[in-house]
Formats: sequence, structure tokens, C-alpha cells
Amino acid sequence: MNEGIDETKRNFLKLMVTASIVAGAGLSLGVVVKTLSPPALGVSSFPNLKLVDSSGSPLLASNLGVNSPSALQFSYPLQSTPNNIVSLGDSSGNPISISATEVTIPADGSKYLSYAGVGKNGSIVAYSGICQHLGCIFPELRFYPNGVESITLAGKTYTGVFHCLCHGSTYDPTAGAAVLTGPTTHPLPMVKLVWDSTTDEIYVSNMVGPTIYGRASDLTGESPISGTTTEVTNLGNPFTL
Ligand code: FES
Repeated sequence: MNEGIDETKRNFLKLMVTASIVAGAGLSLGVVVKTLSPPALGVSSFPNLKLVDSSGSPLLASNLGVNSPSALQFSYPLQSTPNNIVSLGDSSGNPISISATEVTIPADGSKYLSYAGVGKNGSIVAYSGICQHLGCIFPELRFYPNGVESITLAGKTYTGVFHCLCHGSTYDPTAGAAVLTGPTTHPLPMVKLVWDSTTDEIYVSNMVGPTIYGRASDLTGESPISGTTTEVTNLGNPFTL
């Protein structure tokens, strides 16, 4: 009889010891899993990067062709977020000075101030290369230089614009890439350029406007750009590709 009670106690103690081991192992496993989880991708603030060419040499503002249809793209503020840099001109090919202007986001009516152009003539600006409608990129989203290329929509001809061939969105790069035609309801985000007049070099240091298409925020969800430069790549003339 007594032996039976002792056996029951022994079994109960074994069960408790086993349960505590399992619980302890589970806790340890949880700590390990948490420790092995990758850190969230992104940066805490907009980096300051110098624009360089494929050989690592600084991109000089005076070397940017006015009204060039060739797409010059660089990643910013993270990897895989392309932007176009262009030098805007009139229909005769003379550079035009771009002023900061109030831009409206049609989706919600909110407004923000765009950046002025940079370079000797204030004609150089840069915008996200990802269409704000559904995310099309080059060559669908392309620059139509003033007096060089044009697009006619609903009987109206546009030139000197960014236009997306996917569904027809058009943006005005002389006015902060404001929406000229939908279906997009958001302007293209604008990149802040800083021109060093002593060296003719260009830096990128910030962005303004709506969040880059497809991103929860401009600064997260993608690997940072390593180093202090970002490379400008010439993707060519989309009208001759
Ligand atoms: S993705 Fe550009 S217009 Fe639709």
C-alpha cells in the first residue's frame, strides 16, 4: 500500500521535472530565434551622397545635357529605389531655371514645397523613377524632353514631361512633378540635389513629396547604400531602344 503511494509520488515528480525541462528549452529556443532574427532593413535618416559615374568619378553638373532623353538613374535613399536626374530646357534647348513651387497631392489635397533646380542655370532636378500609379519604371516611365519628344493625350499634346506608358500618367518636372494626367493621384517624389559651385559636383541629401511607390516609408524595407556615393547609370534613350 505504502509502496503504491511512493510510486505515485515518484511519477508526479518525474512529470514535474520533465515539464520544467520542456518549458526551459522552449524559453531558450525563443531567445535563440529572437537573437537570430535579421534586423529591420533601412536607415534612420536621409543620407548625404555624392553622385558619381560608373568609374567612381564625380558627376559634374555642366556635363549633363539639357533636354537629353537618355535616362540617367541613381539609387536613393536606399538600394533599388531608382531616380531620374535631368537638366530641363525650353523648346530651343536653352536651360531653364526651376523654382521651388507648391505641389498638391490630388489623392488628399495636401500640399508641400518642391526643391529648386541646381547647377549653373538652376535647371537640374531629380525625381523618383517609379511611377506613383502602380509602380512602372523605365522605359515605361520616361522623360519627354521639351521640343524633342511629345505625347498627345485626349487631344492635348505634352512635351517636357515625364510620362508613363503603362496607363498614361503624366508629371510636370518644372513644377515638382505635379500630376498633369492620371490615373496617378500622387506626384513623383522629388530628390533634393545640392550643387557645389566650386567643384561642379552634385550631392543628394533628402526627398520631399509622397512616399515612394510600394514603400511603407522611404527609409525602410531595403538595404542601405554603402559608402558616401551613389552611381549614376545611363540607361539610354528609350525612344531608340
Ligand atoms: S503604372 Fe504608371 S500609369 Fe500606371
